[in-house]
Amino acid sequence: MSNLRTLMPATMSENTTGQDGSGGQKRDLHLNPLPYTILPGSDDDVLGDKCCVFVDDGLFNRGLEIEAHRTVLELELAIAIENVRIMPASPKVIVVTGANKGIGAAIVKKLLTQPHTPGAPTRIIYLTARDPALGHATYTSLLTLRSPHAIIKFHALDITSTESCEEFKKFLQVTHGYVDVLVNNAGVAWKGDAFDEEVVRGTLAVNFYGTIRVTTILLPLLRATGREARIVNISSGSGMLVRLRDPALRAAFRDPALTEEGLLALLKKFQTDVSADRCLEGGWPKQAYAVSKIGVTAYTKVLARRLQNVQLAGKGKGKEEDKVLVNACCPGWCRTDMAGENATQSAEEGAELPVRLAVGDVGGVTGGWWHEGVVKEW
Ligand SMILES: NC(=O)c1ccc[n+]([C@@H]2O[C@H](COP(=O)([O-])OP(=O)(O)OC[C@H]3O[C@@H](n4cnc5c(N)ncnc54)[C@H](OP(=O)(O)O)[C@@H]3O)[C@@H](O)[C@H]2O)c1
Repeated sequence: MSNLRTLMPATMSENTTGQDGSGGQKRDLHLNPLPYTILPGSDDDVLGDKCCVFVDDGLFNRGLEIEAHRTVLELELAIAIENVRIMPASPKVIVVTGANKGIGAAIVKKLLTQPHTPGAPTRIIYLTARDPALGHATYTSLLTLRSPHAIIKFHALDITSTESCEEFKKFLQVTHGYVDVLVNNAGVAWKGDAFDEEVVRGTLAVNFYGTIRVTTILLPLLRATGREARIVNISSGSGMLVRLRDPALRAAFRDPALTEEGLLALLKKFQTDVSADRCLEGGWPKQAYAVSKIGVTAYTKVLARRLQNVQLAGKGKGKEEDKVLVNACCPGWCRTDMAGENATQSAEEGAELPVRLAVGDVGGVTGGWWHEGVVKEW
């Protein structure tokens, strides 16, 4: 017996006056047939515990987990009386950092508006931003693009703050219990050739340490999805290894035995060399942004290897829930506040590759450095 069934609510008339006759209008509520998972061995009329119902109040989508053992009949009654929108089992939860503008906002927009594949899970896309007012304004401007298959939500998230990352993790844990996709887009770049200790500290704090912080904190949720999860790190072509002047330093970053501790030590050495005014002698370029992105791509490879090893060595060998694909990419040179108006691509064009790595076909690649649509030598 298949554990997938289709619930087919009829088109219903919804009376928005409620029962008090306060003068509202009647409108039709169209609900598409959606597949639901029925727990193996359970009664045919009992819905699985991953079923989710969302109350749509016109502005916010409030998620209600439908409990296990709620019957199809009860659910149909809920549809009839509560104005609920039914979502397929286990929506795909996607988090995008630094999404109040630029490429991050374009990634959210694309994730919201991509055509829905029949049978694919509904998306819940978290637009996150360090400034709640800026983030909420962008969220509000994108609200009209949501659909029954893709819902946008906003949450504040500053990736330089452990407290902010932990608070968001707790929220996600309670609300969903898992995250399918983390897009590490947040980043900073100082204008011009500015280069000193403070520029290096500020740049690494967001681009390198911030990316590692939010990934490390959310990782347990990414490994609890029950299906393949993904991490997409927005790096940059500026972070190509050729930027490093010293071949030994290049080899250290490329070393397949490099660990996270080893990588942190390399970036610490960069900061120490900058402080001691030994940047060039140490083999580094005088470019904080480039080194921060070298760090991001190296971290992608280190994490991908570590998670592959966990999967191979762990008890649940080969299980989908242990599989997390981690990839880094360059979005191209895009017209945003960071790169300026002379860049050759729009933010929307820049969003294409990150979105593919987040939800599209990547051929099972993990630890890849992607540029111009393909995996390249780093
Ligand atoms: N544009 C390009 O040509 C290009 C090329 C290669 C790679 N990239 C990379 O693409 C990503 C997006 O860049 P963009 O061009 O869209 O830049 P952008 O328009 O300047 O946007 C950067 C985003 O990151 C956010 N952010 C900064 N610090 C943060 C923090 N501590 N916590 C959370 N969010 C934070 C910013 O928030 P605020 O608005 O509050 O500052 C903003 O939303 C970056 O990682 C960048 O390095 C860009």
